[in-house]
Amino acid sequence: MRSLPGRFRFGPSTAIHLTDPGLEPVVAREVQRLRSSTGLELPVNSNDPADIVISSDASIPPEGYRLAVSPDAVQIQAADAAALFYAFQSIRQLLPPEVEQERVNSDVDWSLSAVEIADHPRFSYRGLMLDVSRHFFSVEFVKRFIDLMSRYKFNRFHWHLTDDHGWRIELPAYPRLTEVGAWRRETMIGNNLKTYGGDGIPHGGFYTQDEIRDVLNYATERFVTVIPEIEMPGHSTAALTAYPEYGCHPGPYEVPVSWGIKKDIYSPSDATFSYLEDVLTEVMRLFPSEYIHIGADEVPKDQWQASRLAQDVIQREGLADEDELQSWFIRRVEAFLNANGRRLIGWDEILEGGLAPNATVMSWRDMTGGVEAARQGHDVIMTPKDYVYFDYYQGDPAGEPVAGRFGHPIPLDTVYGFEPIPDELTEREARHIIGAQGNVWTEFISTPEHAEYMTYPRALALSEVAWSPRAARSLEGFFRRLNTNIAHLDALGVNYRALD
Ligand code: ACM
Repeated sequence: MRSLPGRFRFGPSTAIHLTDPGLEPVVAREVQRLRSSTGLELPVNSNDPADIVISSDASIPPEGYRLAVSPDAVQIQAADAAALFYAFQSIRQLLPPEVEQERVNSDVDWSLSAVEIADHPRFSYRGLMLDVSRHFFSVEFVKRFIDLMSRYKFNRFHWHLTDDHGWRIELPAYPRLTEVGAWRRETMIGNNLKTYGGDGIPHGGFYTQDEIRDVLNYATERFVTVIPEIEMPGHSTAALTAYPEYGCHPGPYEVPVSWGIKKDIYSPSDATFSYLEDVLTEVMRLFPSEYIHIGADEVPKDQWQASRLAQDVIQREGLADEDELQSWFIRRVEAFLNANGRRLIGWDEILEGGLAPNATVMSWRDMTGGVEAARQGHDVIMTPKDYVYFDYYQGDPAGEPVAGRFGHPIPLDTVYGFEPIPDELTEREARHIIGAQGNVWTEFISTPEHAEYMTYPRALALSEVAWSPRAARSLEGFFRRLNTNIAHLDALGVNYRALD
């Protein structure tokens, strides 16, 4: 980015010329958004002389763009449609914050400072995860979450749709998943897992298939791919409460009211696989994402140790132990996904009994799982809990809303200091690190306002980590840009955490 003298002023005669009709849908949407705050006409491809020219340029890396602003012209060259969307997001950030308001502000100086920007992302996968199981969040909030992240050039929304504490996706073939599995009696108060006090308030909710399609369309317009996560074989108590026959014991099960890792897991039976394949078939019908996330984190093996059926599978398949049984389970699910043209992502525990042949690993406990997977030639998304778990405190717990008790606070500069490619990897191995993701687990987050408080501004730091070249990162520069970003978050009404 190079700052130049002078400003380009938008006015009643400002007109836009687009040379590539393939980019028309992005131009239509983004220019309409500019019209609604500036009140200007901003005609596209009219007969007026155009001072904003938009073209495509296939020599620019994917998602990359060049933006040149001078006092009398704006030129945008975009590699593809996503790139043009990102160029518009950069323009929005260069405009006064009133651009974020959906009403006309005619007394604002709608001008851009002259600048030259040549920009493309370091990583192709730039993600945020939202856990809607521990607490349910409305479609309206999920869309707002996606809209906000897209403004900062995130392009993957990992939707944690199932867990012990609630099943959130409507699947007509298995109605009890949402009739029973989407609801819990109450929720524990506070963050001490050793003592229990319940709030006495039933909690739950789920997304209908129409609602999910609505979210997907909304995300597509913002160049965000939605990756659904269906947890297995652990983190499945809500599903097993609905369908105990797929568990290792007859029950009874209950959708848990306390946090922590639960022991109820799926049985490795043919009936369970048939059910899981039905569920995944429905999920693939709804979600176009190439990646399907199958969880596989934190699976206590006690019930497999005690299960005659599980032990028989271990013997029949010549497996060494329950870790290998988990790998066998995941390989079977991967073969099913691959046969349907999809790819599997799992949390780093899928390394433990041997990786499934084509699996992509989300390295969350630290980065060693990711390093190991990359060395084995597998793709990796880095999401280490000590840097990018946005459910952790972001300052002294005494001054913060209740969060989990494990893990140290993760302030903004820690997120900014996160380097997704560990030095120990060779260049060839490093190419398997396809990106980074921040995770918003919601055991202790029950409202949209609190979710935004935990996510912002930390997501802005991660956005730069995932987008900018390593050498271009500077904490001082980040904090300088943050002032402008914060003014825009204010205009958007985002409940971000104030800076220290
Ligand atoms: C995780 O945080 N259990 C992936």
